[in-house]
Amino acid sequence: MSAPTRVAVVGAGDISGQYLTALTAYPDLAVTAVADLVPERARAQAEAHGVAGWGSTADVLARDDVDLVVNLTVPAAHAEVALAAIAAGKHVWGEKPLALDRASARAVLDAADAAGVVVGNAPDTVLGPGIQTSHRLLAEGAIGAPRTVLTLMQGPGPDVWHPRPQFLFAKGAGPLFDIGPYYLTALVQLLGPVTSVSARGQIPRAERTIGSGPDAGTVFPVEVPTHVSVVTEFASGVVGTSVYSFDSALRRQLFEVSGADGVLEVPVSGFDGPSRLLTGTAPDSPWRTVPAAGVPSGRGVGVLELARAVRAGRPPRASGELAYHVLDIMLSVEESIDLGGPVRVESTTAPVLPIPPHWDPTARTYDGTEQT
Ligand SMILES: NC(=O)c1ccc[n+]([C@@H]2O[C@H](COP(=O)([O-])OP(=O)(O)OC[C@H]3O[C@@H](n4cnc5c(N)ncnc54)[C@H](O)[C@@H]3O)[C@@H](O)[C@H]2O)c1
Repeated sequence: MSAPTRVAVVGAGDISGQYLTALTAYPDLAVTAVADLVPERARAQAEAHGVAGWGSTADVLARDDVDLVVNLTVPAAHAEVALAAIAAGKHVWGEKPLALDRASARAVLDAADAAGVVVGNAPDTVLGPGIQTSHRLLAEGAIGAPRTVLTLMQGPGPDVWHPRPQFLFAKGAGPLFDIGPYYLTALVQLLGPVTSVSARGQIPRAERTIGSGPDAGTVFPVEVPTHVSVVTEFASGVVGTSVYSFDSALRRQLFEVSGADGVLEVPVSGFDGPSRLLTGTAPDSPWRTVPAAGVPSGRGVGVLELARAVRAGRPPRASGELAYHVLDIMLSVEESIDLGGPVRVESTTAPVLPIPPHWDPTARTYDGTEQT
């Protein structure tokens, strides 16, 4: 039982390097293969990271030495690749979003249940020591009962740096679906499920220009709102105000929870940032910085948390149900923009306990020292 969980990465594009660097370093995991629609891309990433196997998705899913598939394809392929992996009897970790629509996302979760495999999906920054420290501060009552939350994600958009940014301005992306999951997954983990949303969306620029790589200078159309404003109601009674924007020269990320006894600033971007607390109400009250407690981690920590959860027979923290709820919220925001009014969010998800600070991704735990 102490052999590592054997992992295959499907999708050898931009983000796969960060994943492969982390996954090949965690002793509880062994990366056995890399797949891509473009086989040379799979081969290059496999060779760069010392992974023996590479090939097409079908080749890799047919392998006996793969327990868990890490789905790093583009959002439009997420459900199809997840379903193929489940049909091959593999557990699946997926990059956000879970799928592009509710029916496909539900089909993935139902297929996994029927096959007896487990699905995890999130931007896994939410499992890093930074956000987990904020989660523990909230749970310990550091700001009293949460009342409101303010989140801002503003910037010029990924067309300025991504070599293939078209998919980030197409259905299934835009700031809401591409960046929203970072905020919404953290919002739901920290504050519980959402019950309704009311939103407005704008497309200030109908075309964008690729800013880097071999296709730099190519103009492409924008298909989804690039500035989205949302009012969110949570089951707990908390009310949130959020902006998701690719239309600002100002780069700003903010996540502030206001409670009965103070304000908590959550380090939403990255894995290991500090939390900040403001508990006085005088104009010059100082913020207190609380460093992230826990072993530093990076992209891929969600794969490890899922693998360890499967091994221990417990649900993963970044579960398929949580990802479904986050997708349902984003689709409800999209519907609210189209309707011009509030939309009820029908799904919900169970509360998740924070990760304890002693949880160590770099430890070998399958020898009986399972860390929950
Ligand atoms: N790039 C980032 O900074 C970043 C950060 C966090 C999360 N993500 C997420 O990671 C995922 C991938 O993003 P990316 O930026 O690496 O995209 P990318 O376009 O650079 O890479 C995607 C890869 O998937 C392959 N692919 C597409 N469909 C496939 C299929 N059906 N089977 C096998 N391979 C297939 C493509 O050939 C390509 O190599 C997306 O869900 C994105 O939201 C990206």
